[in-house]
Amino acid sequence: MPTVLSLTDIRDRLNRSKSITVLTGAGISADSGVPTFRGPEGLWKNFRPEELASPEAFARNPKLVWEWYDWRRNLLSTKSPNPAHITLATFEKHVENFWLITQNVDGLHATAGSRKLSEIHGNIWKVRCTACGRISQNHDVPIIYPPTCKSCGGLLRPHIVWFGESLAPEDLDASYTALQTCEILLIIGTSGVVYPAASFAPIAKNQGALVVEVNLDPTPHSSIIDVSFQGRAKDVVPLLLSEG
Ligand code: OAD
Repeated sequence: MPTVLSLTDIRDRLNRSKSITVLTGAGISADSGVPTFRGPEGLWKNFRPEELASPEAFARNPKLVWEWYDWRRNLLSTKSPNPAHITLATFEKHVENFWLITQNVDGLHATAGSRKLSEIHGNIWKVRCTACGRISQNHDVPIIYPPTCKSCGGLLRPHIVWFGESLAPEDLDASYTALQTCEILLIIGTSGVVYPAASFAPIAKNQGALVVEVNLDPTPHSSIIDVSFQGRAKDVVPLLLSEG
């Protein structure tokens, strides 16, 4: 019989552990009013990723792609971190080895104060020059089209990892190190279907980490998860990470 671990058991283990890695997805920001990608209200129900979030789409029609990101930036400009983001930002200060890996591009973890953070899919508030590669912050809402690089005048693109593109090596290195060395992996609000993040839970599980999930629904991860808490991130995460 597998051991049944309660919320109190997990909270105690999280509070005692010296090495914790957290993986988040769109579900943690859903509680801030940010739409997720999949599911009945998900963005990919109404928009086609290959027409909006791929290098080919940008080469074909940069204006259309920028309109999509402008729409999302406009929406995000009204959103703030919720108690789940804020609790994680506070919690990282109390753990010897902590790393937060997020697939979210909304920047809400950084706004909440998280610093031990890899934004593996990029950040919607950063732009990258298609000519010289310079990365900079850009908070213009609306964006002035065509946005151009201050250094070389080249066309800027969102600093987002699109479908068919590789993750930055430094983000992958930091993520794999965190997954291979953590005692606990806490997975919050991701459907677990997009690679490489979809492979992160097995990596942690195989090296002996306790894998804990917080999600509204069961996910493909759920079969290898040690403990699953079904609920809203904004409610469950503060309960799990509070001191007993
Ligand atoms: P998805 O939209 O695929 O999944 C969101 C998950 O959050 C689902 O499993 C929901 O059940 C769960 N969820 C929804 N509301 C929740 C809540 N309030 N509390 C807890 N869980 C909740 O989003 P991701 O898994 O993040 O890529 O998607 C991964 C990547 O696919 C995204 O980063 C994006 C997308 O294409 C890029 O933008 C590059």
